Amino acid sequence: MKSMLGRILLSPEFQTSVGGSLLRSFVQRTQGIYNYSPRFLLDTQAAARPHYAYCMLSAADLARRLGHKRISVLEFGVAGGNGVAFIRDFAPKAEQATGVGFDIYGFDTGEGMPPPEGDKDLPHWFQQNQYRMNQDALRAYVPEAKLVLGDIKDTAPSFVEKHKPAPIGALFNDVDYYSSTLNSFSIFDAVDRFPDSFLPRVFMYMDDILGTELEMYGPYNGQLAAIRDYNESREQSKIHLNQNLISQTHLSYRNQIYYVHLFSHPLYQTYIGGGQQEVLEGALKLRRA
Ligand SMILES: C[S@@+](CC[C@H](N)C(=O)[O-])C[C@H]1O[C@@H](n2cnc3c(N)ncnc32)[C@H](O)[C@@H]1O
Repeated sequence: MKSMLGRILLSPEFQTSVGGSLLRSFVQRTQGIYNYSPRFLLDTQAAARPHYAYCMLSAADLARRLGHKRISVLEFGVAGGNGVAFIRDFAPKAEQATGVGFDIYGFDTGEGMPPPEGDKDLPHWFQQNQYRMNQDALRAYVPEAKLVLGDIKDTAPSFVEKHKPAPIGALFNDVDYYSSTLNSFSIFDAVDRFPDSFLPRVFMYMDDILGTELEMYGPYNGQLAAIRDYNESREQSKIHLNQNLISQTHLSYRNQIYYVHLFSHPLYQTYIGGGQQEVLEGALKLRRA
């Protein structure tokens, strides 16, 4: 349980105050000196990618409750590798806190964006060859990430069968196009044949949902359209916005965290509340108050 001081320091009001931003910048600058806990880095928003940290810690918590010691995290759209580098750096801290280790997989063509396939891919904003990857530099930068190179429409459907990954617990989606996003979701179709490679509910971050007036993301293009079309085409799995964060207005990523529910997973109905359920529900009510 957090102390009264801890609760004040981590409250949305403090976080959005001058004091909050001073604390954040102090923590960011001293991360190399002090061994801050990953939850503190997340709560103070001092982690370089708090949205990645949130998904990793949440997935590890769920995995632990289901008895897993290791999970896989996937990034769709790797480019220069800053996303997988963050995952690599945050993983040991998250493992120390949760007892769950992380395998990292990165999906990319290896050659930048493929050609757009139509209006829904936002060709006014994205085009072929954008975000080219230097494969040798990336392998040297983040050797811990296993790269799955090729068009996602070819690599995602066979990934689980080929790699037999530890349960997939978190997925970061930054492929920009409607078509690439929709194809990335085909990974979930392997759940019935390889349930051991999935948690029953997977945390997802969708990068291309918020943008500028020039991008104009909305329900009829890009990632939001892909989510809608995926949901319409599947009975046994559904993707939706994480409702828990809606009231957390200080979190810039609150509109970009999604869950996929894999209803046919054999552990979907496994009870995970345990003795802590009332404590957690109490903490949630406090946060919303
Ligand atoms: C915006 S970049 C990713 C940036 C990266 N996540 C980061 O945080 O630095 C988008 C990437 O998605 C990849 N991509 C888009 N569509 C793809 C597809 N159909 N198959 C494989 N990769 C794809 C592109 O090659 C590009 O590198």
